[in-house]
Amino acid sequence: MKSIVAPSILAADFNNLQRDIEMVNESEADLIHFDVMDGTFVPNISFGIPVLEAVNKIAKKPIDVHLMIVNPEQHLEAFKNAGADYISVHYETCPHLHRTVYQIKELGCKAGVVLNPHTPVSLLEGVITDVDFVLLMSVNPGFGGQKFIPHTYQKVKDLKKMIRESGSKALIEIDGGVDASNAKALVEAGADMLVAGSYVFKHPQPKEAISSIKHLS
Ligand code: DX5
Ligand code: ZN
Repeated sequence: MKSIVAPSILAADFNNLQRDIEMVNESEADLIHFDVMDGTFVPNISFGIPVLEAVNKIAKKPIDVHLMIVNPEQHLEAFKNAGADYISVHYETCPHLHRTVYQIKELGCKAGVVLNPHTPVSLLEGVITDVDFVLLMSVNPGFGGQKFIPHTYQKVKDLKKMIRESGSKALIEIDGGVDASNAKALVEAGADMLVAGSYVFKHPQPKEAISSIKHLS
């Protein structure tokens, strides 16, 4: 059993960001997860377009941009131009979600919708066949290093069922508190993609940490 692994550089050492991106390049990671926070939708501010441009110059893996911002539809093109390959927007920030998903696809990016921990998966029924992936938050967004919320397992199962029954090809991504203690159970429940920040970048051997949540026997 294998997963698609996306290390979150929110947990990288920003004084050594190039070194940390090169570590990800050399690892078995599939994507680089890039968390954009605006201090309005979430209580924290992270980084944005200029940092993405810099990361994109050295990244050898596709970049998975997670937009924790209000009015994300106003910034999609700028993120695409800065290097985004995957773009996900929060259900909670998008009154015209279907339109926003198609804006992302028309830019040539994989389009994802993110649900906060309390947002039910049933709300995706009208858009599940349009998205390339669904990101289930397994912590409340805004900070790295938080504790995994176990209710996520049930959401993964419910979402997998909806995907199967609708004929959607959407992948399921999990973000927040992912580590070697929950990765296998998440994939068994139906997850395809795992984001991991602290587990990877605080690990003494980060490349091995990446491999440990990729190969799940
Ligand atoms: C949280 C971010 C996550 C975060 C994950 O709001 O969306 O991507 O970086 O970090 P860990 O793996 O440390 O929970
Ligand atoms: Zn994220």
